[in-house]
Amino acid sequence: MKILVTGGLGYIGSHVVKDLLLDRHDVTVIDYKITKKIFYKENNVNYINANILDKKQLREIFNKKRFDIVMHFAAVIDVKESMTDPSLYYRNNFIGSLNILDLMVEHNIKYFIFSSTAAVYGNTNQTLISEDHIKDPINAYGNSKSMVEEMLFSYHKAHNIKYSILRYFNACGAHLDGTIGECHDPETHLIPIILQVASGRRKNLDVFGNNFNTPDGTCVRDYVHVMDVSSAHILALKNIINNKQSLIFNIGSGTGYSVFEIINEVEKFTSTKIPFSIKDRRKGDTDRLIADIKKIKNSLGWVSKYSDLQNIIATAWRWEQTLKKKLY
Ligand code: UFG
Repeated sequence: MKILVTGGLGYIGSHVVKDLLLDRHDVTVIDYKITKKIFYKENNVNYINANILDKKQLREIFNKKRFDIVMHFAAVIDVKESMTDPSLYYRNNFIGSLNILDLMVEHNIKYFIFSSTAAVYGNTNQTLISEDHIKDPINAYGNSKSMVEEMLFSYHKAHNIKYSILRYFNACGAHLDGTIGECHDPETHLIPIILQVASGRRKNLDVFGNNFNTPDGTCVRDYVHVMDVSSAHILALKNIINNKQSLIFNIGSGTGYSVFEIINEVEKFTSTKIPFSIKDRRKGDTDRLIADIKKIKNSLGWVSKYSDLQNIIATAWRWEQTLKKKLY
């Protein structure tokens, strides 16, 4: 299939591109980080430097090739930043997606796989969150993604665009082949930051709040290996093409760990003490987010192969050594 991947140099997009190539798809990536040397590029992929907010340039790309499907990863993703600069989030995440969908309508492209987030659920007392849980985002990031979901429902009705909405919980870890992993600038995610402390690139970890409504007071999250996240996309792609169904899936491991539990595991794995200080809560953080993953298991036959916490830490640790060499 001819697949357009937006944000295909990003953390999750780059893992999915690798898997798409294994299945011999014809992949075009648009990303605005093409010129950055740090990002690994695959052979046999057409990388185009483009911003999803530039509709004129996007139209030229859509005019040149008739894509069968769009996988839309390009987005801004920092919950904390979304609370201080909401405009950035609504523009990139909502307007950017609107541009893509309008071009899909213009070019009669019917399939769309969308990177959504567990942040659409907001705060909940539910132990495991299923896809039919009410959406009530408490940060602008989650809200911007939820708005795209709503827009998709309308485009589905009006233009018969079939969608797979994949709500990621906390993607983490790195590819087993060692070529790609998490590399945000600035890095804001817990596991890479703890590993930067363990490897000596950072002095201290700030723990954002120890008074959440959880057993040890720190936030509980569902950490899912990025290769499992990627395999879910490949199954969603097959399903949307073969069964033409529009569906929403959680992608998580189904297990929750607190910030303190992650620190303990990293300390054990790296035999390093992680110095930390307790700071105020980050605006927009929820107590607990753990996925109910029955739906994706039953509908797509998805299984998580890599999301054991030890494996997540081991692959992310190996990637941290690579980054340390590349950056210094
Ligand atoms: N945390 C710290 N210190 C840090 C970084 C994070 O204590 O330096 C804490 C956070 O407060 C949170 C937990 O570690 O409690 C996880 O934080 P991350 O920043 O790693 O991830 P988030 O849960 O904020 O967000 C991630 C993705 C979002 C997605 C969300 C869904 O970045 O895109 O998971 O669960 F929406």
